[in-house]
Amino acid sequence: MKLNPLSCSAVALALFVSCGPCLHAQEPPQPAPQHHPWDDKSLSPDQRADLVQKELTLDEKIQLVHGTGWGALRPGAPIPLGDNWGASYVPGIPRLGIPPINMQDSAVGVRLSAMMGRYSTLLPSALGSASSWDIQGAQLYGDVIGRELRAQGFNMSIGGGVDITREPRNGRNFEYAGEDPLLAGTMTGNLMKGLQAEHIMGDIKHYAFNDQETGRNIFSANIGKKAARESDLLAFQIAIGIAEPSGVMCAYNRVNGTYSCENDWLLNDVLKKDFQFKGWVLSDWGGTHSTVKAALAGLDQEMPGEVHGSFFDDALKQAVQSGQVPMSRLDDMDHRILRSMFAAGVIDYPVMPRDVVDPFKGRDDAEHIAEESIVLLKNENGVLPLSADSIHSIALIGSHADVGVLSGGGSAQVDAPGGNAANPHPGGANWGESVYFPSSPLKYIRKHAPNAKVEFNPGTDNASAAASAKSADVAIVFVNQPMHEGMDRPTLSLPDSQDALVSAVAAANPHTIVVLETGGPVTMPWADSVQGIVEAWYPGIGGAQALANLLFGTINFSAKLPVSFAKSDADLPFPEVPGINLKDVTREITVTHDGKKVSIKVTDKPPFDVDYNKQGAAVGYKWFEQQHIQPLFPFGFGLSYTTYEYSGLSVDSQGRTATLTIKNTGQRAGAEIAQVYAELPAAADEHYKRLVAFDRVDLAPGESKTVTLDLNPLCLSVYNVDKDAMEEIPGEYKILAGPSSADTPLTATFTK
Ligand code: BGC
Repeated sequence: MKLNPLSCSAVALALFVSCGPCLHAQEPPQPAPQHHPWDDKSLSPDQRADLVQKELTLDEKIQLVHGTGWGALRPGAPIPLGDNWGASYVPGIPRLGIPPINMQDSAVGVRLSAMMGRYSTLLPSALGSASSWDIQGAQLYGDVIGRELRAQGFNMSIGGGVDITREPRNGRNFEYAGEDPLLAGTMTGNLMKGLQAEHIMGDIKHYAFNDQETGRNIFSANIGKKAARESDLLAFQIAIGIAEPSGVMCAYNRVNGTYSCENDWLLNDVLKKDFQFKGWVLSDWGGTHSTVKAALAGLDQEMPGEVHGSFFDDALKQAVQSGQVPMSRLDDMDHRILRSMFAAGVIDYPVMPRDVVDPFKGRDDAEHIAEESIVLLKNENGVLPLSADSIHSIALIGSHADVGVLSGGGSAQVDAPGGNAANPHPGGANWGESVYFPSSPLKYIRKHAPNAKVEFNPGTDNASAAASAKSADVAIVFVNQPMHEGMDRPTLSLPDSQDALVSAVAAANPHTIVVLETGGPVTMPWADSVQGIVEAWYPGIGGAQALANLLFGTINFSAKLPVSFAKSDADLPFPEVPGINLKDVTREITVTHDGKKVSIKVTDKPPFDVDYNKQGAAVGYKWFEQQHIQPLFPFGFGLSYTTYEYSGLSVDSQGRTATLTIKNTGQRAGAEIAQVYAELPAAADEHYKRLVAFDRVDLAPGESKTVTLDLNPLCLSVYNVDKDAMEEIPGEYKILAGPSSADTPLTATFTK
């Protein structure tokens, strides 16, 4: 049974705890479990799924391949019994012991928990976490999400964004893991691995090339197969190879003219055949456009679907009965879903929504991840770390730094405990609202400098901010770039005249430090006039504590950029976000709502193409290198309070591993992220290097470590269109190693 979710939400939020037990306190007694042949855990997931499938009726087969509607996501939509108020619900088959699938968005923490009177941990943005280059950190990130989904009665995450940063102004970059296929794929894959270890099904999205939000339902990303396989699709391949996720969500946009969710090449040829993906393909919400075409192209489940009337329910049943879609295809869809449920353990370890989220453990984990995610970009004259002993006054300016830290919006929005710290109002976050979490930089900076005068100025008036900065030893200006699903930023510039604010403060105080809370890269016309620059991304519920620890040097900086920061929009492959200036058009479309066909008006861009062949696989740092353009801050760059020396690179004759030595030459302990790049043989005709390995190495002061890194063979390969295969070509490979993509002092070669 469902109680009114609002009845206990206020109490739960005030107490900072979940109210799961009060929602389920009056559940009727469950029938004694029955035993089925597929309960045998010694059988493989495929064998177990086969046994279940023998028992399925046609209606049950159809029931598994679509959701039951928008539910909690759309006010007024019906919420069926058993639906856990998430993003989607697929009823189970109780007579066979198959539980329902309750999915929830959870890109940076579990979404929409306040509505259910619950609490979820806001982690640093996924892009922030990618800045840690820490595989264990990524698994911890997934673990937090997995255990909180479980505690809230969900058995599937639909986070796991791995679309690479082709478009640095993309409103969803904060949900993704940066511009490089190896880094993005490795971090996202390990995140999913950590999540799935909680016996929660994972999902990787948005497949594929959903690299901008402008016109996302209609634009066509046009790209040749070779460039596609060596860029965006490679990130998916690596992530899928690591995590073997249950689901892959196909994207809204079209690829080479065909919608992703009915794109035979993307789904059947690449994902299922070449990547050997064994899970199921679910459509993005409303991203299914046909029945027969989509089913034959490899779509396995329509989301959010309807009980009756959408593409994959009655219409699919008829298509199967008439032979337009073979029964074997429907069986394949069901097999993929059921085998994934067995493989992830959601049948053997069903979720018990009687658990409670542990907000303190979540906060500690979020703080740890934030400490590894925040990047030091500039530290002139050692302005950082701040010394509590010698600083008498600090002017803290802008971006609601008195009350909280910014979070990212859209379907990745996590509800802030107690509501938006900067804009309190009843109810959950509104779509598009900039939500601040109650992690106050002012409070934690004061804690580190108890004897200093630390004053906050809102930064809404440049003259007043400058006056406040002038009277202090140090000025710390917080600036922000709110981002959310469904929109891109028109430029890389900070919004709301914040560049002028920084300039005014920097002119008033030579010891100015800028802290950026951004979804992705931004331009910094004031970079030369400030002493310190810190990229905090959206740092999560432990963000202020982490930031204060780093600013005062209790913890050392270690993070490095997972994206390049351009000097200006003009340096990007597309100086303007493609399609952003196209005039919206309104058209009528037919949708199914509660089983009935209704006509609605939608306003969107007219169809347009985005020519990704312009840059091909040269995304991010590869583009800058190929074009001989100097970025403001390069991919892989980040400073620390200590210094490192690289020496002694060697590569084995087959190019499988590289060995090098790193020494901490400074006075403080630190973690250095070593990066290994490759330049392919001349025959590849490539004018950039590729990241092929990385390692995060902890080093005490004076300590040296020799590390051996595995070079990723896919990253050393090119895609051969004729053979339809990735292959390493003959010739001499140059291996380069160092602290960033722009600083690779060590080189070695091997020949294939
Ligand atoms: C987003 C997906 C999300 C889904 C369900 C869509 O608008 O693109 O990422 O998972 O909504 O909320």
